[in-house]
Amino acid sequence: MGKKSQILGVDIGGTGLKCAMIDVDKGELVTEKYRELTPQPSTPEAVAKAIKGIIQRHDYKGPVGCGFPAIIHGGVAKSAANIDDSWLNVNVEELFEKATGNKFFVANDADVAGLAEVRFGEGNGVDGTVIVLTIGTGIGSGTFLDGKLMPNTEFGHLLYKDDIYEKHVSNAARKRNNLSWEEWGSRFCEYLLHLEKLFSPDLFILGGGASKKMEQYAHTLTCETKVIAAEFQNDAGVLGAALYARSRMKKKKK
Ligand code: BGC
Repeated sequence: MGKKSQILGVDIGGTGLKCAMIDVDKGELVTEKYRELTPQPSTPEAVAKAIKGIIQRHDYKGPVGCGFPAIIHGGVAKSAANIDDSWLNVNVEELFEKATGNKFFVANDADVAGLAEVRFGEGNGVDGTVIVLTIGTGIGSGTFLDGKLMPNTEFGHLLYKDDIYEKHVSNAARKRNNLSWEEWGSRFCEYLLHLEKLFSPDLFILGGGASKKMEQYAHTLTCETKVIAAEFQNDAGVLGAALYARSRMKKKKK
């Protein structure tokens, strides 16, 4: 069991499950990140079992914040793009609560990663519209107006030709198409220009694996909006998940 200011943050991805104890006042990891592979197929039963194992391993009885790679509305998964189809309409919070006995607060993975950046990272104190894009297997988006989250924006699923943008500009698409970072950057820039036209943002923050390579493609990003790399990169998911749990707990008390 941790201290009151410490909450376990869990980040569920298509390939990996990560967790760490987070000091939600300081915005810091207080334990090393633990990581294991997401079970395949990533069905609700298999993932719930893995989450139970992780909680037991940490001998943790407190509330858990959790980022999940789907639209999450009222704790329920409303899409299943990079996770098993059988998650559709599953109440993720209830499922994990039943499996573990812990209280769970679940939200979209990019929304919670964005929370970490906006509360404690590069987006802190930025007024106006901040769009955080996580670039990995898919493209996740966390959208903030004056620091307040507008959940489930799913900008990776905006239509592009006969498909959706994430199929064209994710890191998985870069690998699949054998693109250099520079070639991928020019493609990604088109996507940013499209978002810029639609939302007139004040800042783009790029997270996920691709953010670490930004020096290799930054010169290809010609949009007017400032573009910066996320501060927490791969830690944003676990950190933001715990911050999300705390914000829900605060709301409940009011
Ligand atoms: C999902 C989003 C998720 C993103 C990153 C997309 O395919 O639709 O909900 O945030 O992948 O994991």
